[in-house]
Amino acid sequence: MTQDDKTQDRVVIFDTTLRDGEQSPGATMTHAEKLEIAGLLDDMGVDIIEAGFPIASEGDFNAVSEIAKNANTSVICGLARAQFGDIDRCWEAVKHAKQPRIHTFIGTSPLHRAIPNLTMDEMAERIEQTVTHARNLCDNVQWSPMDATRTELDYLYRVVEIAIKAGATTINIPDTVGYTAPRESADLIAKLLENVPGADEIVFATHCHNDLGMATANSLAAVEAGARQIECTINGLGERAGNTALEEVVMALKVRNDIMPFRTGIDSTKIMNISRRVATVSGFPVQFNKAIVGKNAFAHESGIHQDGMLKNAETFEIMRPEDVGLTETNIVMGKHSGRAALRSKLEDLGFELGDNQLKDVFVRFKALADRKKEIYEDDLIALMRTSTDAEEDRIKLVSLRVVCGTEGPQEAQMKLNIDGADESTTQTGDGPVDASFNCIKTLIEHSARLQLYQVHAVTEGTDAQATVSVRMEEDGRIVTGQSADTDTVVASTRAYIHALNRLLVRREKTGKDTPEVSYKDVN
Ligand code: KIV
Ligand code: ZN
Repeated sequence: MTQDDKTQDRVVIFDTTLRDGEQSPGATMTHAEKLEIAGLLDDMGVDIIEAGFPIASEGDFNAVSEIAKNANTSVICGLARAQFGDIDRCWEAVKHAKQPRIHTFIGTSPLHRAIPNLTMDEMAERIEQTVTHARNLCDNVQWSPMDATRTELDYLYRVVEIAIKAGATTINIPDTVGYTAPRESADLIAKLLENVPGADEIVFATHCHNDLGMATANSLAAVEAGARQIECTINGLGERAGNTALEEVVMALKVRNDIMPFRTGIDSTKIMNISRRVATVSGFPVQFNKAIVGKNAFAHESGIHQDGMLKNAETFEIMRPEDVGLTETNIVMGKHSGRAALRSKLEDLGFELGDNQLKDVFVRFKALADRKKEIYEDDLIALMRTSTDAEEDRIKLVSLRVVCGTEGPQEAQMKLNIDGADESTTQTGDGPVDASFNCIKTLIEHSARLQLYQVHAVTEGTDAQATVSVRMEEDGRIVTGQSADTDTVVASTRAYIHALNRLLVRREKTGKDTPEVSYKDVN
C-alpha cells in the first residue's frame, strides 16, 4: 500500500482464515485445502493473506511456503512470536512470495506481560530487537501488541512508537478478546494517530474478535477513525466467537458507501463460493441467519415479501444475491443428469474436481438421486462435505443395520473394516444413534470424548438428507467429522468415523504425548 492509498479511501483487506481462522478448535485444514483456499482468496482480490504460523509445525511451514510460491497478486504473510527463531522460520516460509510480509507480535497488556514475566522496559527492548530483526530480513513488517485494547494507553503509545522506529510498516491493533466497542475502537485509533510520533508514516490495522458480537462494527469504526487495514476471516471463522467476517465488512463498505466512503479491492461476486468452500473444509457450517452468506440471508425472495419484491426488488433488498455470487436457480439436477453437468454445477459452487474425484462423487450423486427426486445445490454441497471411505482411511464402514421404534431396546449391528480387517459387533443403546456409536466404541477403543453432535436437514421434505457434524476431543486435540445421508443414523455413524480417522492422523503426526504449539505459549 502506498502512502497515497492510505490517505485516501482504499482499505486493505488482510485475510487470516488460514491462520487465526484455522486456530478455531477443530477447524484444521489439510495442506491441499489450505492451498485451494489461498488460491480463492488471491483470486477474489484479498490484498494480504496470512497463510499460517510457520514455527507451529512442519505442516504449517510447508503450507505457508507453498502458498507463497503460488500467490499471484496477494501479499503473503506469516505469523511469528517475538523470538528470533520464530521470525527466521517465518521468513524462510514467506520469502518465496513475490510480496512477502512478516507479522510479529507480543502480548502487551498487564495480563499478557505477566506470562513471560517481563517488565515494561524488558518487553519494550524485546519489541525493539525483534522488529529490527524482522525488518533486516523483510521490508514489509507488521507488528501487533496482542490484547492492545486492554493495554495501558501510555504503554501502548510507547511500544507502538518503538515498533515504528524499528521499522514496522503496519501496526495492527488487536482486540484479542473481543472486549472493545465501536466508539472506543475508533477513539483508540484516533488517539494513536494523534499521539504516536511517526504514526502518519505507517498503516494502522484493526483486528477484532467477536466475543460480544461487535467485531464487524468495531473494525468499521476503526476505519472511520483512520485505520486502513481490516483483518478478517471468511465466515468470521476464528477462536471462540470468531473474527470480523470478510464478507460483512466488504458488503457493508459497498452498500453503505454513502456514509462510509471507503473501497476495497475485493470482487464481491466471489464471496458465496469461498464461503461455502471454507465451511466445507473447516467443518464449520455457516449459521442459517448469518449476514451475507447464511442460507436465509436472501430468503425473503421466496417468502412473504415476494409480492413487494416482484414490484420493486429494492423494497426488501439492500443488495442483490448476484452481488455476492448467489445464483438464483436452486433445483439443479436429477437422476438423469450426466457427469459433465455435475462437474459444471460443482464448479459453479466452487468445487474443482480431478477426474478420479469426479468419478467417485458421481457414483454417490447417482445413489442419492435414486433415493431423492430433486437434488438441490445444498444437497450437492452436503454431498461434497460428506466423508466417504477414502483410500487412506484406517476405519471404513462396511455395513450397518439398526432396530428402532417404540419397542426397545434399540439395537445396531455393525461391520467395520479396521486397518484392512473386517470386525463386527451388535450393541444396544438409548436410540439407534447411541447404539451405533456404542458399536464403534466397542470395535475401536478410544478415550476421545464426544463434545458436539449436531443434525441438520439439508433441504425440506421427508426425503431430505441429514448432515451430521460431530466434534471430539482427546488429550487437547479437537477433531470434527461430517457426513450427510438420507438416513440419519448412517450419516451419524459416518460422521463419527470421519472424526476418528482424523484423530488417528493427528495422533500419528503429533505423537500421543506431544503437545501442539500454540500461539498463546508465546513469550
Ligand atoms: O487476536 C490476536 O491478538 C491475534 C494476534 C496474533 C494478532 O490474532
Ligand atoms: Zn486474533
